[in-house]
Amino acid sequence: MPAYPVEAHGNVRAIASSLIREVANAGLGKRDVLPFWFGEPDEVTPTFIRAAAQAALDAGDTFYTHNYGMPALREALATYVTSLHRPVPADEIVVTNSGMSALMLISQALVGAGDRVVAVTPLWPNITSAPKLLGAQIVRVALRFDRSGSGQWAWRLDLDELLSALTPQTRALYLNSPNNPTGWTIDADTQRAVLEHCRRLGIWVLADDAYERLHYETEALEQRRGARPRPCAPSFLDLAERDERVVAANTFSKSWLMTGWRLGWLVAPQALVPEIAKLIEFNTSCAPGFVQRAGLAAVTQGEPIIKRTVERFRRARDYLVQELCSIDGIEAALPPGAMYAFFRVKGMNDSLAFCKRMVTDAGLGLAPGAAFGDEGEGFIRWCFASDETRLADGVARLRQGLASMR
Ligand SMILES: Cc1ncc(COP(=O)(O)O)c(C=O)c1O
Repeated sequence: MPAYPVEAHGNVRAIASSLIREVANAGLGKRDVLPFWFGEPDEVTPTFIRAAAQAALDAGDTFYTHNYGMPALREALATYVTSLHRPVPADEIVVTNSGMSALMLISQALVGAGDRVVAVTPLWPNITSAPKLLGAQIVRVALRFDRSGSGQWAWRLDLDELLSALTPQTRALYLNSPNNPTGWTIDADTQRAVLEHCRRLGIWVLADDAYERLHYETEALEQRRGARPRPCAPSFLDLAERDERVVAANTFSKSWLMTGWRLGWLVAPQALVPEIAKLIEFNTSCAPGFVQRAGLAAVTQGEPIIKRTVERFRRARDYLVQELCSIDGIEAALPPGAMYAFFRVKGMNDSLAFCKRMVTDAGLGLAPGAAFGDEGEGFIRWCFASDETRLADGVARLRQGLASMR
C-alpha cells in the first residue's frame, strides 16, 4: 500500500462537480432529449467567422503567438470596447482562451489563500470556483425574487446588503451582469454606488460582462444615458477611470455564437497587464492564431450578427416566459438580459431530482437551480437561445412532466 493517499489538493476537492452535468448524465443513452440545460446558442458560428479561421489555417497560421494576443486583435478589441464604454487603449486589453480563462487569470492575478471575495448570487458556479480553487473565502449576497406593485416578478439587489458585505477586509467583488442564471442587470446608479464604495475601501471589482450585448431593455437605457452606436448593458467600464481597481472579463462565445472556439478577452489597468501575461505563459501560453483571426472577423464585422441574435433571443424570451407563466404553479420574471429563464416551481425543493425526472420521464433537459448556489434551490434554469418550435415542444414536455409528477 502507498504511504500517502492519492488525492488532489484540498482546494480542488472542495469544488463540487457540476450538477448540470449530473442531470445530463441521467439522460445518457436516452435518444429523444431536448437539451436546454447548457448556456449555448443553438446556431453554428456565422460563415464569415469560420472562413477567417480557414483562411488563416490555409496561410499556415499554426505557430505560437503573443501571450497578450495578436496586436491586430487587441487593437480591434480596444476600438470595440471604446465604442461601448470609454476610451480603452490596446495595452489594457489581453486576449484569453475563453471567458472562463479570463476569469481564472484575473483570479490568479488578484486573489490568494484566505482572501475574502464577495459575489452576487445565484451565479454561474464557475465564477466563484476560480477564487475558491485559489483558497479564497466566498461571501454570497443573494438577489431577491420579489413581486413588484404591478404583480410582475423580478430579481432585485438589496444594495445596503451588498455594501455591508463589502467590508474593508474584502479583496474583491465578483459581479456578473447581465447575470447567469437570472438575467438580472445592474443599473448605472447602483453601479456608481458600488464602485464608489469599493474605491473607498480599495476593493477590486471583477465585472463579468459575458452577456453585455444580450440585453433586451437597452432602448430604455439608451434614452436615459444618450444614444450609443452599439446597444449594450451597463458595465463598470462605463464608470471606471484608467488605472483603478476594475477588471472586466468577456467572451466571444455568446455575442458571436462562438462557444466552441474558446476565445475571450479582459480589460485591466495597464500595470496589471504584464502580470496577467506571465500567468498566460503558464496556463495556455497564447490563444491559437487562427482562432484569433476568427475573433478579429467577428469583432470587426459582427454587428449585424449581434443585432439579429438579440432580436431572435428577445422573441424567444418573450415567448418562453409567457408560456411558463401560464402554467399553474410556475413563477417567472422576464429577464432583462442573458439567455435564461430562471423560474420557480411552487412546492418543489429538490431541483436536482426534479431535473433528473424531467429528463428521464419527459425528455426535457433543464438545469437545476441548486447548481447556481443554495439561493437557486426551488428554481430551474432554461436556456432560451433556441427557435420557437423547439421551445414549444419543450413547454409541452414540461406540462406533461409536471402532470405526471402530480
Ligand atoms: C456568466 C458567464 N461568464 C463567462 C462565461 C464563459 O464563457 P466561455 O468560457 O465560453 O468564454 C459564461 C459561459 O457560460 C458565463 O455564463
